Amino acid sequence: MVPLKRRRVVSSTGGDRTVPPKFPQAVLFLLERKMGASRRAFLSQLGAGKGFQVEEEFSERVTHVISENNSGDEVTAWLRSQAGGRTPAHLLDISWYTESMRAGHPVQILDRHELQQQQIKEAEEEEVVFSVPSYACQRRTTLDNHNTVLTDALSLLAENAELSDEEGRGVAFRRAAAVLKALPRPVTDMTQLRGLPCLGGHSLRVIKDVLENGASGEVESTKQSERYKALKVLTGVFGVGTKTADRWIRDGIHSLQQLQRSGQTLNRAQQAGLEHHHDLSQPVMKAEADAIGEIVEKAVVSVLPGAQTSLIGGFRRGKLTGHDVDFLITHPEEGREVGLMPKVVSWLEAQGFLLYQKTTRNSYLESKEGPARPSSNMDRFERCFSIFKLAKHTSSGDDEEEAKPAGHKRWRAVRVDLVVSPISQFAFALLGWTGSKLFERELRRWAGHEKAMSLSSHALYDNTQSRYLRATSEEEIFAHLGLEYIPPSERNA
Ligand code: CTP
Ligand code: MN
Ligand code: MN
Repeated sequence: MVPLKRRRVVSSTGGDRTVPPKFPQAVLFLLERKMGASRRAFLSQLGAGKGFQVEEEFSERVTHVISENNSGDEVTAWLRSQAGGRTPAHLLDISWYTESMRAGHPVQILDRHELQQQQIKEAEEEEVVFSVPSYACQRRTTLDNHNTVLTDALSLLAENAELSDEEGRGVAFRRAAAVLKALPRPVTDMTQLRGLPCLGGHSLRVIKDVLENGASGEVESTKQSERYKALKVLTGVFGVGTKTADRWIRDGIHSLQQLQRSGQTLNRAQQAGLEHHHDLSQPVMKAEADAIGEIVEKAVVSVLPGAQTSLIGGFRRGKLTGHDVDFLITHPEEGREVGLMPKVVSWLEAQGFLLYQKTTRNSYLESKEGPARPSSNMDRFERCFSIFKLAKHTSSGDDEEEAKPAGHKRWRAVRVDLVVSPISQFAFALLGWTGSKLFERELRRWAGHEKAMSLSSHALYDNTQSRYLRATSEEEIFAHLGLEYIPPSERNA
């Protein structure tokens, strides 16, 4: 038998040491550049101890060059500066090495381990690597989404997590989707995602699956799952939350027919939701939102001249459809807005515009509450959840009742949210109710984590100065937060 060739390896004492290499096909070289001499020595020693051949000097024999925080170009440039200039078989990131150390043998080389070499890439096409800031409120996200296939997949998993009361997972998927929504071009290759924020391992797996196979197995199986389907159908009814839906599912109710037959007691909202389910599951069009806007405006000025109505929510962000229409009402004189909502609601009811309404009184008191608490102050304005009865527009005049085929209504039901705020809180309410939900969440996270401030739809409190920061416009709030102003149309995160 021919004895194994003994190789010179790095040893802890700095002297030479010979051990039989366990993996003779891999001759490794760790690049000192950016890694530093001491880390390189430590890692080399670690490898040698596990039977890897780690060369001290670069030579023709080296098959794997391993570097840390170097680009393919940087490593190639270094190799060119070496005598010979031959490029070894593998230019690898340190992650391949550390994973191999953990495994105790050279692990399979995956795409993510390999450094990208621009020279090869350049011949084909310029590599597009994206870069975006990590908070959604630092980014401009228009409705132009170049990655809908990927964001739909991630949004579905977010929705599934939220329906299952796994809020943390839901937010993680929402943040990942939001990063992709902000990209200027479609993602075509995983390497373009390097260095992007908010893309966790799970989201990256889903993206990879979609890029490589056209669909994600996890998304497809979620869509097919009985539980997801039932949760979606049941929570699709206005007034039904995840807890109620979950209870019904445990009682064997998976569909609306089963719900209707079950004899479950429904509250007033749920009864209205079920009754108008067909209409409410149709998207609301911008023209319908505008028609409702005119009605609300008329109601508001009739009961309080000088009061102002603003369109908020998705339609303010420029969406062309929505699941509801949202309005914010105020009066330029502080205090005049008190008691406004019941009057608006009575006016609308008297005119036959309301199929359902539930009004909640304002429960926000700054002095008593102290600093605005972000998690608990979302619902404190005087507000009204309602279902409007909106006349359908016919292109050919009004009096066509008889001409309508039987069973065709001349109106449709539309979900409408009304909120009243005092003028002193108007800018905060406007910002807080324009959305998107993720944009709002990110604004509050930014305020808390980066600025030691608490932002709500009522106020901005500076914890360092122990005082409220006033604002009369959204621009001022962004300025207080040290953020560039993002207009509503670019808050579609
Ligand atoms: N909102 C809130 N408190 C709630 C519900 C909603 O502050 N209890 C805010 C959300 O943060 C969002 C805005 O109201 O910014 C609009 O919410 P919603 O109508 O649910 O979403 P839209 O963005 O308008 O989307 P859609 O078009 O589907 O209605
Ligand atoms: Mn809305
Ligand atoms: Mn709403």
